[in-house]
Amino acid sequence: MAGKFISLEGVEGAGKSTQVSFIHDCLKSLGKTVVVTREPGGTELSEKIRNLLLEPSPIAMANDTELLLMFASRAEHISQVINPALHRGDWVLCDRFHDATYAYQGGGRGIQRQRIQQIADWTLRGLIPDLTLLFDLPVELGLKRVIERQGTTDRFEREKVDFFKKIRKSYLQSAKAEPNRIKIVDASLSITEIQKQLTQLLKPLI
Ligand code: TMP
Repeated sequence: MAGKFISLEGVEGAGKSTQVSFIHDCLKSLGKTVVVTREPGGTELSEKIRNLLLEPSPIAMANDTELLLMFASRAEHISQVINPALHRGDWVLCDRFHDATYAYQGGGRGIQRQRIQQIADWTLRGLIPDLTLLFDLPVELGLKRVIERQGTTDRFEREKVDFFKKIRKSYLQSAKAEPNRIKIVDASLSITEIQKQLTQLLKPLI
């Protein structure tokens, strides 16, 4: 059977990275070959672009530059990793994909959805995840977790709470617009409760 494409999304500190390994193990135990990857990043070149995007720097970056770098990283990632894996029949588990661009560069930075859509049409050429898990929790709780987890913060994590509130709102709007693909996971619950939700949400795909 053909592979499936699953993306994980959410504001900072939503715990997606922890759950990637849980989902990976679930799928592996069912005999699936799974490629775990992330955005921005996922290839040697895309990881270099990731560094440019995430490294705190005294040099300001224009919003459009940020947007285009996200898509440059994505174009490389799609052609080198995602498409080849799906063509082989593997499953792809991607920590963030294009919904993050609508949420962060659209909701957060204020770039019009329509402008993002134009570049997305051009770059994705119809590639859309089969399932997107949106790890949702109050922004303040997520940011608290980030600070507790690590001493340093990246270029995005240095933004103000309001920026992340806009991102969360934008993610929730996307979920409302595409309820069949984007499923909300209550990320404020315990790890066991979250994993119960994930097991239920993965069932229809398997
Ligand atoms: P993460 O690996 O910790 O999720 O960090 C990636 C950061 O990049 C996170 O702050 C979200 C941001 N990002 C965007 O702003 N737009 C995008 O399209 C993607 C994929 C990530």
